[in-house]
Amino acid sequence: MKMRLFMVFVLISTVPLFLSACQEKENTAADKKQTEDKKVEQKWVDLGVSPESFVEVYNLGLPDKYKLDPKDFMELTFAEGKAKVEKDLGSTVRFTAIVTESRGKVSEVKISGVTDEQPLLFTSVLRAIHQEATTAQIEQRMQEVKANPSAEKEIERDMSWEHVNYRYHQLDKGWMLLIQPRDLESTLLDPTISYPKAEVKDKEGAKKEEKKEKTAENKTGEDGIQTVSNPTSVLVLVNKSHRLPSGYVPALTKPNVRFPFSEDLAKKKLRPEAATALEGLFTAAKQAGHILYAQSGYRSYERQESIFAYNAQQMGEKEANRVSARPGQSEHQTGLAMDITSQAVNYSLEPIFGETAEGKWVAANAHKYGFIIRYPQGKEGVTGYSYEPWHLRYVGIEAATKIKSTNSTLEEYLK
Ligand code: DAL
Ligand code: ZN
Repeated sequence: MKMRLFMVFVLISTVPLFLSACQEKENTAADKKQTEDKKVEQKWVDLGVSPESFVEVYNLGLPDKYKLDPKDFMELTFAEGKAKVEKDLGSTVRFTAIVTESRGKVSEVKISGVTDEQPLLFTSVLRAIHQEATTAQIEQRMQEVKANPSAEKEIERDMSWEHVNYRYHQLDKGWMLLIQPRDLESTLLDPTISYPKAEVKDKEGAKKEEKKEKTAENKTGEDGIQTVSNPTSVLVLVNKSHRLPSGYVPALTKPNVRFPFSEDLAKKKLRPEAATALEGLFTAAKQAGHILYAQSGYRSYERQESIFAYNAQQMGEKEANRVSARPGQSEHQTGLAMDITSQAVNYSLEPIFGETAEGKWVAANAHKYGFIIRYPQGKEGVTGYSYEPWHLRYVGIEAATKIKSTNSTLEEYLK
């Protein structure tokens, strides 16, 4: 059934590509070239997208350091009908593309590096190649890539979508996504993981570089609060001094876990990687005899605005500031935070949850699934918020494990 659905999807989604390819043929003057084009289109020896169009779509929504310049694809030197474009994006990512001379199209792309921002980069590349695809289709593909920056083991994965083959490779030092047309006969690309700086020797070095770049890219407002440049990173820092860009809305999905209410509300949702991790955590808790409930995940800017205003009215602004975030400054808007609870505390969000069997189990095990207790006891001076044993934040297994073992916070980890 799944396979049949996938075939239908492939058929539907390739129609627009073929239609646009047909229009292109009509506009071509020389008959000879037309015949050649036809052969090429049937054989898919390139990705079917021009460099200009690729760059335009790829750049949408990316921070400046990862953007390509249309000039990178000008004045190319062709050898045997192909030219290579290679560019370092920031200090931890390398972009390589091959362009064909006869059709003037991008024929191969490789993106490789040592950053944990693969999802952002991969989504941009997928969008640039499959320009007719819907956001949901892109999301579906992203799920297949299953890049896991926290994984200790090597990951190798071959996938295909429409006329494109994808190869994902992840080793301890970095990762690579190689993108090639289905019928490619030979390649100019080196299909190995590569990244820019000689001094970025390992993941730790790369992380330091990346942290430096991220802080440098944040823009500070008149109120002294920085607007983060990496809202889609699983390590994004959102607190009283770091806010999300206005209008930021992540891709969201509903985790398959228990909720203490049945309405279909946005607060049931999380970003896909956090949703999968939460399902793993809840399943493990159940196996250990603890039934957990998810109470509140994603919140929009507007929702947070009314929560803060309500709290300020109930308890005064000073106290409201200790327990709830101002709009734009809540982790709930990232889609990476979930407040959890249990029957023992009547499904409430109270510090007493930390003393229940469920709360204790979560504190001891959440890191194994990539979550941290974001506002631990005794850390109000660092996090800006009082103890919240119920507020889980997804940061990935590696960061969560480090934060737990050092008894620290996300603020301290990112320093
Ligand atoms: N309660 C946390 C701090 C929030 O409102 O995001
Ligand atoms: Zn919370």
